[in-house]
This record gives sequence, C-alpha cells and structure tokens, in this order.
Amino acid sequence: MKKDLTEFAAKCGVKYFMVSYTDLFGAQRAKIVPTQAMADMQKDGAGFAGFATWLDLSPAHPDLFAIPDPSSVVQLPWKKEVAWVAADCTMDGKPLQQAPRVVLKRVVGAAEAEQLRVKTGIEAEFFLLNADGSKISDEFDTAVKPCYDQQAIMRRYDVIAEICDHMLALGWNPYQNDHEDANGQFEMNWEFDDTLSTADKHSFFKFMVKSVAEKHGLRATFMPKPFKGLTGNGCHCHVSVWDKDGKTNTFADKKAEFGLSDRGRQFLGGIMKHASALAAITNPAVNSYKRINAPRTVSGATWAPNAVTWTGNNRTHMVRVPAPGRFELRLADGAANPYLLQAAIIAAGLSGMRGKADPGPHYDIDMYKEGNTIPDAPKLPLNLLDALREYDKDTELQKALGPDFSSAYLTLKHHEWNSYCSHLTEWERQTTLDV
Ligand SMILES: Nc1ncnc2c1ncn2[C@@H]1O[C@H](COP(=O)(O)OP(=O)(O)O)[C@@H](O)[C@H]1O
Ligand SMILES: [Mg+2]
Repeated sequence: MKKDLTEFAAKCGVKYFMVSYTDLFGAQRAKIVPTQAMADMQKDGAGFAGFATWLDLSPAHPDLFAIPDPSSVVQLPWKKEVAWVAADCTMDGKPLQQAPRVVLKRVVGAAEAEQLRVKTGIEAEFFLLNADGSKISDEFDTAVKPCYDQQAIMRRYDVIAEICDHMLALGWNPYQNDHEDANGQFEMNWEFDDTLSTADKHSFFKFMVKSVAEKHGLRATFMPKPFKGLTGNGCHCHVSVWDKDGKTNTFADKKAEFGLSDRGRQFLGGIMKHASALAAITNPAVNSYKRINAPRTVSGATWAPNAVTWTGNNRTHMVRVPAPGRFELRLADGAANPYLLQAAIIAAGLSGMRGKADPGPHYDIDMYKEGNTIPDAPKLPLNLLDALREYDKDTELQKALGPDFSSAYLTLKHHEWNSYCSHLTEWERQTTLDV
C-alpha cells in the first residue's frame, strides 16, 4: 500500500520533508517542504529549475517536478523533525529519462520483466578529515598499516557509533565497522537489499555520514583518491540475482565452481564484457583514475583493480567471488552515483545473461605482483576520457541505460573533462618551466 506522507509526518512528529533527487554528477538536491504542503507535493512533485543542476537541461526547459517516492522515506535520526524522501524527476508529466533514479527504475523493470530481482550490498568507504578538508582529522593516525587499527577507530568512536546507532534505528541491519587501509579511512557495513533500496540507502548513508561528521566539527569525504600514496575510497558492490519472489538466489549452486551458478557466470560475463565502458559510470571522476591503476600505496597494496580479471576469494582482481552465490565487483569508487552504479551493473549483467556470456578464465594469482604474466588481460581505462570513449563505443550498454541518459551523461562528462584539461597543474610547472 502506498504510504501517505502526511500521515507518516503526523505519526512520527515530522515537521519538514526534504524532497530530494540525485543529479547526473551524484549531487543530492532538495527542497525543504513543510508538512502541510506535502499532500500536494506527493501528488504533483516539488518544482525545480533543472538547468541549475547537472541534468543536461537548458534554462528554457519547463519546470522539473520531483515526485517523492514514499517507499524511500527516512526520518533523520539526528534531527527527528525532518524526513528525507527520494524523488523521481518528471517533466511535462513524463519521467525525465536521464534522471539517475528514473534510469535505475527502468533497468530494474527490465530485470523484473525477466522474473529477476538483483540484490546488492555496498561498502562505501570514506575518510574523516578536519573541517576544511585539507588533512585527516586524527593526527595520531599515522600507522603504515592502519587497517583495523583498534586504537585509532576508538578515537573516532563517537562519530562511528553515532552513525551505526542511526543505521540500527533505521533497521538496516548494520553488522560491523572498521578502520580501513588508509590513515583516517573507515568502512561501515549493513545488509544487502534490492538495488533500488540499496541505492536509496547509499545516498542517505553519504548524507548521514557527512552530516554526523559536520556535527563533530569534521568533514567526511568519499573522494576516490584524496591522498597520494594512501589507499583510496572504494565502493565495492556485492551482487546476486534472485527469483521474482526474492526467495531463491539463482546465483547459488553448491556443485558449481566457487558456488557460482551458470546464471551467475553469465551475469559476470556481462560485467567482464562491458567493464571498460562501465568504468565511465563506476569511476566517474577525473580523480577516480588515480585510485584504479595506482602505484603501490604506503600500506603495500592499493586494493583497487587495474585490469579486467576475476577470481575466487582474492582481493587483487576486479571481481572476487568471496562466497557461494554472489560476486564482488571491486571497480567502483566513492564518486559513483548510487543509482547509476546499480543501473550499470544490472544492465551489463542482463546483457551477459541474455547472450550467455562467458566470463573467461579466472586467474588465481596475485594481480599486483604477477599481473604481467597475463598480458592479454584487458586493462581498465587509464583516465576519464578513455572511459567515456569506451562508453561511447558500447552501444549495447548505452541502449540498456537509455539513449537520453547516455547522451546527457556523455555531454556533461566531456565538459567536465575539458574543464580539467584547461586547468594548469603544479606538476606541469615543475616539469615544463625550464623546458
Ligand atoms: N547474496 C548476497 N548478495 C548481495 N550482497 C550480499 C550477499 N551476501 C552478502 N552481501 C553483502 O555484501 C557486503 C559484504 O561486505 P563486507 O562484509 O564488508 O565484505 P568484504 O569486506 O569481505 O568484501 C554486505 O553489504 C553484505 O550484506
Ligand atoms: Mg568490507
């Protein structure tokens, strides 16, 4: 039954709603709406000037209306009088085809039409920095191998526990929190879910982590590679595909290699086939390419892939099969748009299932040390421009994610690349001044 947001507000003591949508660059845009206006907003949506956000619209376009999806509503655990609700963008009464949540819903619909439900869990790593973002907030967090550092995570207990308490209250079933492999870096894990719910939770998680960090006078960042020499922020995604009731995991097969069924292998085959184009979505920032393909970090490993390879329980490859019935895509980073990340994985996977794609051989080696022994393994794009060109060539993925989306995304991302290229860097000065 469709939730009535006005009733929800009365029951929970909510005074304001944040009607929120995510644009193509992953920015969350919201209007704060008093409860008494929500009945109309739930029907007609909140109005926005689309051009003012990253959606490849012009100032001449008509108003964009963001219609709240009540199934996503969350009362802010740190400010109970406010509720956040994810919205679907419309224009002229129709879904705005390039809006990320609209893209994901369409792709989820394509999976449903084949009686499939994709479920995913993500690991959205982040750093806690000082308020101006210039360095990590804990000056004592200096270990060479800081992963799981007991003392360092306890120095940030107030922040981490507050966020975890909120996830517990929201019923996300969080189950562990740790200090990650870079100084100042943390990861918090909660249970996997259907992709639209995972994407909404992912969006809300970023908002929540940033908000709680700000409350403590800190700044949280999901930037893919904030510090040279330190491990970057990944956003690994664990994937399985279930029957339409969500009861049977069609990827699970006890007798199959790594416990991954033929359907699982085919879905994975789609991921492998489209990986280089997928990078344009999973690794969408200029900075993303300083995480993948990076030289070894101070801790000894980047934990990020550099080639399109897969294996069993071994974290040096793009895809790992950590346990029967699922695989982990380690490609995406903290800049990935929560909705587009899920949409791109489903689109690539469905294409693999339809074409009965073969993921190719698995190489059970340490890719960081022995990657050179498989010279024909395709390399991931070296920069954003290469990734955009790969996406431009991948007409199948473009079609699955939608032509309007693909053209809007490519346009905006090429502008971003050009803006980056026009920027003079210190490195250029250092290496070219005396030429
Ligand atoms: N069958 C499954 N399908 C999708 N995601 C899953 C499945 N089983 C577990 N997950 C999710 O995978 C993620 C695992 O994250 P984590 O425990 O940090 O693993 P690791 O760091 O070992 O990769 C969690 O979000 C978990 O809920
Ligand atoms: Mg983890």
